[in-house]
This record gives sequence, structure tokens and C-alpha cells, in this order.
Amino acid sequence: MTAVLWQGWGVETAEIVDGWLAALFERHRASLTFQEVRRGVQALSRSYVELRDRRRAPKALDGAGKRAAFACFFTPLHFLLVRELLVQLAPAAVERVVDLGCGCMGAGLAWATASTTAQTEVHGVDRNRWALDEAARNLSWFGRRGRAVLGDLCSFPSPAGATGVVVAFAANELDDDGRQRLLQRLLSGVAAGASVLVVEPIARSLTARWWPGWEAAFVGAGGRTDLWRLPVELPPRLRELDRAAGLDHRELTARTLYVARRSADAAVR
Ligand SMILES: C[S@@+](CC[C@H](N)C(=O)[O-])C[C@H]1O[C@@H](n2cnc3c(N)ncnc32)[C@H](O)[C@@H]1O
Repeated sequence: MTAVLWQGWGVETAEIVDGWLAALFERHRASLTFQEVRRGVQALSRSYVELRDRRRAPKALDGAGKRAAFACFFTPLHFLLVRELLVQLAPAAVERVVDLGCGCMGAGLAWATASTTAQTEVHGVDRNRWALDEAARNLSWFGRRGRAVLGDLCSFPSPAGATGVVVAFAANELDDDGRQRLLQRLLSGVAAGASVLVVEPIARSLTARWWPGWEAAFVGAGGRTDLWRLPVELPPRLRELDRAAGLDHRELTARTLYVARRSADAAVR
């Protein structure tokens, strides 16, 4: 695949992404130097990507530099990735998106901006208050109706109807009991007509124990399982941070589980 993500989404979306990044960087850089944000990217990358230790995750957002890195770098990366996944998976249009473990709402907004329904609402749940505040700001920036609320994603009500549910890079942070409850709720959502997308890192260290069981459950429910390596030319602000932090995001990667809701509605693009 040779497509360059986000630049292929049309001028309007590319401008939205650019404007969003400009606003994020302006706000978070107001009180931090570039080097502090760069160190935040490196620290988060180590805790999320290299150490692969979910017990560190609750502390992942405990400093200004790491928070800025999450808001300005990882959230937009997840937005770019999830939006392209949805272009590829082409789900039927939804009236609302539910983002479980939403963080700053990158994945939920990615689905909303990929949807053919302009008024698609976006709702999220997370246990981190700082992230919820960022999610609210992002919702507002994108001009979307919806809310991000404090709560446990494992006990969030099962979605129904024309709903897109996304769980991005969050299921791996749960304990086995929570993950099992989440799976049952997702499957109930599918039975009630929702589309469900689960996104996790391609490396198996965070998912090896539970992914096979989830794959079987999703395939059994009529879904699919995929590995993705999507070439990307990052927007300049992200590229600069990526390089400065010694990372190399020339492609965005993920493993996904996806079940489409049954509908004759138009697909996204
Ligand atoms: C790696 S971040 C991913 C955030 C977002 N989905 C994204 O793709 O950018 C994982 C998120 O899951 C949240 N989380 C983990 N366990 C949770 C739980 N039991 N209930 C609610 N949120 C949870 C964390 O607070 C964090 O914001």
C-alpha cells in the first residue's frame, strides 16, 4: 500500500487535521519547551511501547511533559491511524460513536470525522480526569456534540443501534476480569446492532494472552481480524517531534478486531 495517510483524505480534512495540531501545539507549548515535550514523548513511548508493562499505565500521564506528549503527539497519531482504519474497513454510517478508554478522544473523533453522518455524536468514558478535560476541548474544537465522562469502561452500558464503538489501546490496560466483562458488553452491543472496532499494538507482548480468545469471539460474531502496516508521512509538527524523540513513524501499525453492524447505509469515505 502506498497511500500517504491524511493527505489522501481531501483538502478539507487535511486542513482540519492541520488546524487541530496547530491549536494543540499552541496550547501545550505555551508553558513547556520543545525539549520538555520531546522528553515526554520519549517517556510515554517507553512506558507504552517499549516496556510493555501495563502496571505502569496508570502513571503514564503523571507529568506536564507526558501529558503534553499524549495530547499533542500520541492522540493525533491514534486519530490518523484509526481514521485510516475506518476508511479501509468502511463501516456503515453511525449516528453516534462511543469511545471506551477515550483518553483525549482521538479514536472517537477519527470515527466521527470518517462518518457520512455530519452530525454524528461522540461520547467517551475514561478514568483519567485530565484526559477527559482534553477530550472535551477536542470535541469542542471539532464542533461535535457529545460528552466524555468519568467512569470504568468495563461497566459502560452496552451500546445499541446505529452506534460505532471503538476501544483503542485501552483493553490491554485492563485486568482479566475487566477485559472479560468488556468483551461481553461489546458482544452484546454487536447483537444489538452496533459496529465495534478494537485497536491494539501490533507487538504481541501486551495482547498475547487474551487476543486469541477475543479473535475467536469476534470472528464467531461475524467479524474480522487484521494486522495493519500503513505507510504515513506525518504532518510536519508530528514529524519534528517523532525525529527529535528518536522514533521512526514511517508507518502506523495496529492489530484490530472489527464487526460491522448490519445496515444498507452508505459506507464511509
Ligand atoms: C493508551 S490510552 C489510549 C487512549 C485513547 N483510546 C487513544 O487511542 O488515544 C489508554 C486509556 O484507557 C484509559 N483506561 C484504562 N483503563 C480504564 C478503565 N478501566 N476505565 C476507563 N478508562 C480506562 C486510560 O485512562 C487511558 O486514557
